[in-house]
Amino acid sequence: MADLSVEICGVKLKNPVIAASGTFGFGREYNLLYDISVLGGVSTKGLTPEPRLGNPVPRIAEGDSVILNAVGLQNPGVDAFLENDFKFLSKKTAVIANVAGKTLDDYAEICGKLDGYADFIELNISCPNVKAGGMAFGIRPESIKEVTRISKSALKYTPLIVKLSPNVESIAVNAQAAQAGGADAVSLINTLTGMVVDIEKRRPVIANNTGGVSGAGIRPIALRMVYEAAHSVNIPVIGMGGITCAEDAIAFMMAGARAVQVGTANFTDGNAMPKIISGMNSWLDAHGIKSVNEIVDTLVLNG
Ligand SMILES: Cc1cc2nc3c(=O)[nH]c(=O)nc-3n(C[C@H](O)[C@H](O)[C@H](O)COP(=O)(O)O)c2cc1C
Repeated sequence: MADLSVEICGVKLKNPVIAASGTFGFGREYNLLYDISVLGGVSTKGLTPEPRLGNPVPRIAEGDSVILNAVGLQNPGVDAFLENDFKFLSKKTAVIANVAGKTLDDYAEICGKLDGYADFIELNISCPNVKAGGMAFGIRPESIKEVTRISKSALKYTPLIVKLSPNVESIAVNAQAAQAGGADAVSLINTLTGMVVDIEKRRPVIANNTGGVSGAGIRPIALRMVYEAAHSVNIPVIGMGGITCAEDAIAFMMAGARAVQVGTANFTDGNAMPKIISGMNSWLDAHGIKSVNEIVDTLVLNG
């Protein structure tokens, strides 16, 4: 069997397959389906300083090979996470604590609380579904650099991943801004902003009107952006967006990702991630490749 272990910012993961933020809760429900300790890691739902109920319903809509969501950062708050969920999750797998704030101070405060506990902090500066904050930090390079710098200065032990929005002018410039602000890694992509309409009601399906588009349909966009980001920075890149099977995960790693995250696929098949992990093993074995690290950044462009 091929070696699937990877090391990112000095942290060793069993394999490069991580549950994407907001699609896996804190792992408890999926752990009823399978032992989640088989995963490389879990990125938590976005944590805020205070508990949040999120946006009004309906907040999920289906499209063709995509879904739209405007959950709006429903979460129990960072303190309740540390008290009730962290221990369970950290005994199972690497914990990527996804954090979101309205102000720079929010980001610094949450990072300070999670420092030394979580294996990684993942800054969600790109949430398209909350009115104040979130997205505002994730669009312009100067603000990406600033929120990264402030968050990094609150951290002594835990490496910082900055999660990038695809709803931007240049993913390469924004990845570089995160690196310049002190990010230890970047992850991408978050959801693309979209709308689904109910023509009988002449209204958008989602109460929030717009939502974040995710799932298989966004994969070509995500792959292109991961390639561009990976070739514009020298920190590790974690790729995601529409990954549903082992072959998808392998394509992202060939494009330069050192690990991948799987989100919406967990909704269509609760066992998607264990299947991806065993499928990667089979593919590597069939191709005589001993370690998954050997495929990273091996894509050769045409012409
Ligand atoms: C229901 C839902 C909730 C999400 N919540 C978060 C979140 O709290 N923080 C975050 O950084 N990303 C969040 N995301 C984005 C995902 O982590 C991921 O970036 C995106 O869905 C693309 O991957 P996928 O196509 O595999 O789902 C959410 C996605 C969905 C579908």
